[in-house]
Amino acid sequence: MIVRLALAAAVVAAAATTVVAQSDPIAARKAIMKTTGQQTAIGAKMIKGEEPFDLNKAKAIFAEYQDAAAKMPGLFPDSAKSGGESTASPKIWESNADFKARFAKLSEDAKAASASVKDLDSFKAAFGNVTKNCGGCHETYRIKKS
Ligand code: HEC
Repeated sequence: MIVRLALAAAVVAAAATTVVAQSDPIAARKAIMKTTGQQTAIGAKMIKGEEPFDLNKAKAIFAEYQDAAAKMPGLFPDSAKSGGESTASPKIWESNADFKARFAKLSEDAKAASASVKDLDSFKAAFGNVTKNCGGCHETYRIKKS
C-alpha cells in the first residue's frame, strides 16, 4: 500500500513536470540545468575538501546528469527559440543533431563515471571527465548575456 501510494505520488509528480515542460519548455529546461548546476557544486565541494566525500552523493550527481540528459533534448521545440531569459543559442536549431548527440555523450559519460566511482580519487577523475561536457556544450550552444 505504501509502495503504491509512493508510486502514485511519483506518477503525479512526473505528470506535473510533463505539463510544465509542454507549456513552458524554457522554464523547464532552465530548471533542469539549474539542478544540474547545484549537483555539480556539491561535487566540486567534495573535491575541494569543503564537504566530506560521500559515495551516495557522488552517485546521485551522476544519476542527475543522466536524468537531465534524457529530458533536455525534448525541451527545445521551434516555438521556444527565445524569450524567458533564455541563453539558448540559435545554433541549437541549426546543428540539432550535434546538440542532441552531446546530451547522449553526457549520459554515457555519467553512466561510466557512476560505475567507476569508489572513493575520492576515482571520483576526482570521473567528475573531471564528465564535467568537460558542460563547458563544451555551453561554449557553442549558449549565448553570453551581458
Ligand atoms: C548539450 C548541451 C549542454 C550540456 C551537455 C550541458 N548544458 Fe547546461 N545549458 C545548456 C543550454 C542550451 C542552456 C541554456 C538554456 C536556456 O537558457 O534556455 C544551459 C544552461 C545551464 C545553466 C543555467 C540555468 C539557468 O538558471 O538558466 C546551468 C547552471 C547549466 N547549464 C549547468 C550545466 C552543467 C553543470 C552541465 C554539466 C554537468 C551542463 N549544464 C551540461 C546546454 C547544455
